[in-house]
Amino acid sequence: TGYFTYDPGFMSTAATKSAVTFIDGDQGVLLYRGYPIEQLAKQSNFLEVAYLLINGELPSAAQFQTFEHDVTHHTMMRESLKNFFQGFHYDAHPMAMSMAAVGSLAAFYHDSLDINDPAQRKLAAIRLIAKMPTIAAAAYRYSIGWPIRYPRNNLEYCTRFLHMMFEVPSEPLQLSPVAAKALDLLFILHADHEQNASTSTVRLVGSTGANPYACVAAGIAALWGPAHGGANEAVLKMLAEIGDAKNVGKAVERAKDKNSGFRLMGFGHRVYKNFDPRATIIREMCHKVLADLNVSDPMLDVAMELEAAALKDSYFVERKLYPNVDFYSGIIYKALGIPTEMFTVMFAIARTAGWVAHWLEQHETPDAKIGRPRQIYTGAPTRDYVDVEKR
Ligand code: CMC
Repeated sequence: TGYFTYDPGFMSTAATKSAVTFIDGDQGVLLYRGYPIEQLAKQSNFLEVAYLLINGELPSAAQFQTFEHDVTHHTMMRESLKNFFQGFHYDAHPMAMSMAAVGSLAAFYHDSLDINDPAQRKLAAIRLIAKMPTIAAAAYRYSIGWPIRYPRNNLEYCTRFLHMMFEVPSEPLQLSPVAAKALDLLFILHADHEQNASTSTVRLVGSTGANPYACVAAGIAALWGPAHGGANEAVLKMLAEIGDAKNVGKAVERAKDKNSGFRLMGFGHRVYKNFDPRATIIREMCHKVLADLNVSDPMLDVAMELEAAALKDSYFVERKLYPNVDFYSGIIYKALGIPTEMFTVMFAIARTAGWVAHWLEQHETPDAKIGRPRQIYTGAPTRDYVDVEKR
């Protein structure tokens, strides 16, 4: 027995020190390695941000070139890994397939499983960032019965991904430059978020000395839930269900009713109690992307109406519930032609940068300990075993 601090949900427990990302939830501040998210969103690109998260500093032009070359070099998937997809039922969720495929990488790359070797750790990190889009696109194409495409390594990261998703043989893909740029921006905004549930999961699994592919597969599992990364898929389903701006009032009332089991998806955040700076950027971007792509989506009207109605309602005001990063991201993904079931996979591609940055940091920390929380025991006191015929 023992007496421990009871902190369900880790509301006030710092489980680690970290130099990767800073959040001030009251002020709505998010910094990657000290750089404000607003500046990175405007001036950087996802691969540069991945480099920054992993290495702690922005790359020089030469360092970036090497990093981009390394990532590009590792985009291919083994043919036997491709065969794995054939084993899934046709309607398998792409998150299920992605999680399994990422975990299986440990079975292919024995040259990067030694967690005590810094070069092997870096190699695994690069592989994961490089292969996530290939795996994600394969999961999507399998789910619609299309043949899996090889990555085109003459393209940059986001454009390459969109090609793997949508390209059809001998039919050049007409891709608006706005699409790749919008995707890149969404990836930047989702790249890291300090000790969120999935990153904490990666660290907890990492603390046991498990290999990096297993750790990231565990992160994908944690991300899948609707309280975390699954929220972007849940938002779009919710908006579709609401259907029309005139039904927004009813949805708000339902979300306030604790017995309804319904929450406004894409609303509220454990850390942000003022606003989510990522949501502010995404809202603006959502209008622009839809205009640039010449897409008009009634879901956007429903979303704006819902946001306005909730922000006027004392229930949401008192509890400091604001739209989070996932409230508008799905509308942008939809405008890019990405199906709802892929939204959380998109999040996973971006968050892989953060997961591996934290995993690397963890293994560079000499006094890292196994994560092993305690509990407050609420079970039976000591008692004697009773033979089955006497029970
Ligand atoms: N709709 C209605 N009520 C809500 C909502 C919501 N979306 N979120 C929180 N509440 C209420 C909750 O019922 C509670 O009320 P009371 O104090 O009367 O019991 C109060 O607000 C505090 O909520 P909590 O669940 O104790 O807060 P938390 O910090 O544990 O949970 C959260 C944070 C994000 C899980 C939660 O706000 C939520 O479930 N939101 C909807 C799902 C969502 O959008 N998740 C994405 C989060 S951001 C991206 C990511 O991390 O992946």
